[in-house]
Amino acid sequence: MAGYNSSAMILPAKTALSVQHNVSLKALTTFGVEAIASNYLQIQHSDQLKAIRQDSVLAALPRLILGGGSNLLLTRDLDVLVLHMMNRGISLLGEEDGIRLVQAQAGENWHSFVQWTLEQGWGGLENLSLIPGTVGAAPIQNIGAYGSELSQHFHSLHYFDFEDGEIHDLSRKECEFGYRDSVFKQRLRGRAVIRDVTFALPMKWQPQLGYAELAKELSDIPHPTASEISAAVVAIRSRKLPDPAVIGNAGSFFKNPVVTASVYADLHQRYPELVSYIQADGSYKLAAAWLIDQCGWKGKALGAAGVHDKQALVLINRGGATGAEILALAERIRSDVALRFGVSLESEPVVL
Ligand code: EPU
Repeated sequence: MAGYNSSAMILPAKTALSVQHNVSLKALTTFGVEAIASNYLQIQHSDQLKAIRQDSVLAALPRLILGGGSNLLLTRDLDVLVLHMMNRGISLLGEEDGIRLVQAQAGENWHSFVQWTLEQGWGGLENLSLIPGTVGAAPIQNIGAYGSELSQHFHSLHYFDFEDGEIHDLSRKECEFGYRDSVFKQRLRGRAVIRDVTFALPMKWQPQLGYAELAKELSDIPHPTASEISAAVVAIRSRKLPDPAVIGNAGSFFKNPVVTASVYADLHQRYPELVSYIQADGSYKLAAAWLIDQCGWKGKALGAAGVHDKQALVLINRGGATGAEILALAERIRSDVALRFGVSLESEPVVL
């Protein structure tokens, strides 16, 4: 495929392993809770991962792969090797069959990457604007918002496998994307490090305005451009979700639970106001925010941990919270929702 000049330099191979010790992760995760990592290494190039695997001491340590730290709740100090993905670079790989293949290195900031594609005039990722985190973390939980999911415009990725020390290529199908799920949370958990992700952006762009709140935000603009849709998503998110730079949080703390049609029918009979979305297979996805809200948790706090007052699905650090305090609040919410609705909530962020 034709090469194309990249917007940023891909750093040359760097295999020096300058491990730092007893590093605070407080500023590196969006919850902003204190946790000390015994070993910490910045990764600029995948050759460093190969070198780690060949180092008997480093290879024996449990690993934590860190991107933007926006989907992580740390509840204790960690005797691990943190691999902080900092490889950068974006390039157009080529154009074929009505799509444009754009590759970004894992350490790129997600929102900056989305904005860069929009500045080139390439639509596709606009509904996913302002999601915190990095490009490399995005496929792991198949980030999704406002009627779109990463999987829709995903082409392939490369990952380093700590089992065999090789770089592998995975297609969309092989990534086994689901709702906030992928092969990286299942079979490849703990062994894969995503190096770069390639997106398939449509040459004939079409707006995705299926999410009612987004369509409403844009109701004054008859034919919104991708950049206008991005601006609308940014406006909605800024109103509802706390800015992690100001209030520590990790976005939605729980996934929206999926229940069978019969569980749904029973719940709907008891709670006609229940907010739900029917799925292709006949099951129902319930709005966890609604369940939590009904239990009276919205805007409430337990010590320094709280529930955001504009979105009940978002737990916040009200200042000086520990990870354990946030986890205790999550457990109280989970227990209340289970008692009242008989529905079990699953955490979205990784809790360590
Ligand atoms: N609702 C309440 N109380 C609230 C908030 C919402 O009752 O405090 C009800 C409303 O009826 C609302 C419905 O819940 O219509 C859904 O709320 P919202 O549109 O805010 O979406 P969500 O289902 O709570 C999901 C994603 C978000 C994503 C939005 C928009 C999950 C776990 N979360 O939230 O993703 O931004 O949809 O698409 O699927 C994230 O993953 O970190 C994240 C923020």
